[in-house]
Amino acid sequence: MSFLSATLSRVKPSPTIAMTAKAAEMKAAGRDVIGLSAGEPDFDTPENIKAAAVRAIADGKTKYTAPDGIAELKQAICAKFLRDNGLSYEPAQVSVGTGGKQTLYNALMATLNPGDEVIIPAPYWVSYPDMVLLAGGTPVSVETRLENAFKLTPEQLEAAITPRTKWFVFNSPSNPTGAGYSRDELRALTDVLMRHDHVRVMSDDMYEHLAYDGFRFCTPAQVEPALYDRTLTCNGVSKAYAMTGWRIGYAAGPADLIAAMRKVQSQSTSNPCSISQWAAVEALNGPQEFLEANNAVFRRRRDLVVSMLSEIDGITCPVPEGAFYVYPSIAGLIGRTSPAGTRIDSDEAFATALLEEAGVAVVFGAAFGLSPNFRVSYATSDAALTEACTRIQRFCAALT
Ligand SMILES: Cc1ncc(COP(=O)(O)O)c(C=O)c1O
Repeated sequence: MSFLSATLSRVKPSPTIAMTAKAAEMKAAGRDVIGLSAGEPDFDTPENIKAAAVRAIADGKTKYTAPDGIAELKQAICAKFLRDNGLSYEPAQVSVGTGGKQTLYNALMATLNPGDEVIIPAPYWVSYPDMVLLAGGTPVSVETRLENAFKLTPEQLEAAITPRTKWFVFNSPSNPTGAGYSRDELRALTDVLMRHDHVRVMSDDMYEHLAYDGFRFCTPAQVEPALYDRTLTCNGVSKAYAMTGWRIGYAAGPADLIAAMRKVQSQSTSNPCSISQWAAVEALNGPQEFLEANNAVFRRRRDLVVSMLSEIDGITCPVPEGAFYVYPSIAGLIGRTSPAGTRIDSDEAFATALLEEAGVAVVFGAAFGLSPNFRVSYATSDAALTEACTRIQRFCAALT
């Protein structure tokens, strides 16, 4: 009998973390590697947020807090939802966790029974299917198409819903494609959901503030107020506020669901770091102007990467609306061979050869459930991006 649980055997470790670790290992061994695999901004956390954390330490705010967040942070989150999304929540409808990841995980743990299905449009953030498996549910992946800019169509959603569907996971702008749904595109999906009362919506709005070219972010409970009682709206400070290491995420939804999530958290980690919570209060209540300045930088980098990758024969690179990722297709390169003799028969083979032969770390599409593609994170300097894209161009040109 295995010592490890049967549930765990169905789960794979995060491939994005694995790729980042492999690149770090090669760097440590003296290899010249440019990492485009990590999903975090290269910007530093704004000074006012750091100062709030220092104040919290000096003031002794270093003890246990309520398991799912301090009142001040819940208030700041309610104010944020009203200000940015026109959504009105009470503090009892808000849960704060150790990163967005924990709030999503809590919700799945609190609601899934064996056989319950969770619809996840592919390509997806790598953790969704595995978190569903850990919680005992069944992930149902629905592949989107490059021709549809990687967006799920209402017909695809309708076809995926069964009597066992418990959640529909929605992520816009998306990790890994950067695709953002317009209000009309989202409305087409919420219209489908209105015909299926038993389906709840888990909206992962983590990249809300990272959007370009005038893209107007919207979230399901805002677009279709009748879904308010069936929607868990999830967000966090990790990406927009460059706070990945602080580990604060949050969600708002029906009070009974939030209470169930609190129960999961109170028997696992208890409260998120007290100091980080005070920093998050400042992030949400403090000045927001830097978001625009950061976005101007991200947009420039997106354009740089899209234009350099689009020059490559065999690669198709759509222009995404947001986040800091692009998800080019390598369909035109499949079947070729690298200078070192690797046959590019999959996106995994492509990413591995690119890392070993050209020193560029990206994440292969199979990890996100849609091939043959790869994900580039452009949250790094213009110089590193230019050099990395030049290497990718050279590597692809040398394929025979
Ligand atoms: C779509 C998406 N949701 C949630 C998260 C989790 O964020 P956090 O670092 O706050 O746990 C990530 C992080 O990569 C993400 O890309």
